[in-house]
Amino acid sequence: MSSKWPYSADVKLPIPANFSFASPSDSDWRPDASGFWEERDLGLHAASGGVIGATILRPAPTRSSGEIHQAQNGDWSFLLVLGGAIRIEEGGGAQTGVLNRLDAVYIPPGARYGMTPLDGLRLLRFTAPGSVLRAADSAAPRGLGYFRDSPAAYTSDGPRAYISYRTFGVRELTQGRLNIQISRSRGKPMPEGGTGWHTHEMTEWFMVLSGAGRLIVKSGGDFLLRPGDAMTIGPDTPHNQLSADDDYAEFDVCIPADYATASAQEPRYPQVAFART
Ligand SMILES: [Fe+2]
Repeated sequence: MSSKWPYSADVKLPIPANFSFASPSDSDWRPDASGFWEERDLGLHAASGGVIGATILRPAPTRSSGEIHQAQNGDWSFLLVLGGAIRIEEGGGAQTGVLNRLDAVYIPPGARYGMTPLDGLRLLRFTAPGSVLRAADSAAPRGLGYFRDSPAAYTSDGPRAYISYRTFGVRELTQGRLNIQISRSRGKPMPEGGTGWHTHEMTEWFMVLSGAGRLIVKSGGDFLLRPGDAMTIGPDTPHNQLSADDDYAEFDVCIPADYATASAQEPRYPQVAFART
């Protein structure tokens, strides 16, 4: 399957991706290319060969109270508020809104908008291409897509009965190139032995939002995942989630949105335990 993304070369789906694991610490903040933000890389850019990227953003100290005007120059980006709040004004004052924790916005190519960081803002930014560096495009500006957090946004419509899912409509916005969702425990225990060893015919990237969970990835390692930890699992990579706390939640990206899942053999060698420093 091949798919032309609006401003990138043809992208093969599922995109090839290497395994990656990132457990960002406060020492990882770097100025981003715009100068408006500081960012912590979450490993996806390198794992996907630059096709897509994910970072956590906070306002650069010198910009913390001002407005940030930006044009969307890449294919698209998706912002999820992890903490604090942000006010967004679309070009021409078409719409102004405040996004709070776990609210999200999809920013299409050509969009022009302003952002005002409010107290304690932390954003997860997911972009394609992985670096938003290209020159301004000529596409007509289009409206942003807003997704508010609410209990009603979570449904049981997903592959696992003990998980509830909140999807963000990105499947439709990107014609199935990817799906973005939050999946969280719904108070039901995982089956004995976890999900079992399995593979997906897609590239998955996720970041833990709350709780802890244990995940083993063939040729990756044995991880006790905690909030802020992020992982890329490439196509056909066997993995097994052994446990998840009652409050476990993760932000998930599946590329492409529709994919096959198959059970896999348990690897016959011991996994390397991840040692958290
Ligand atoms: Fe899986």
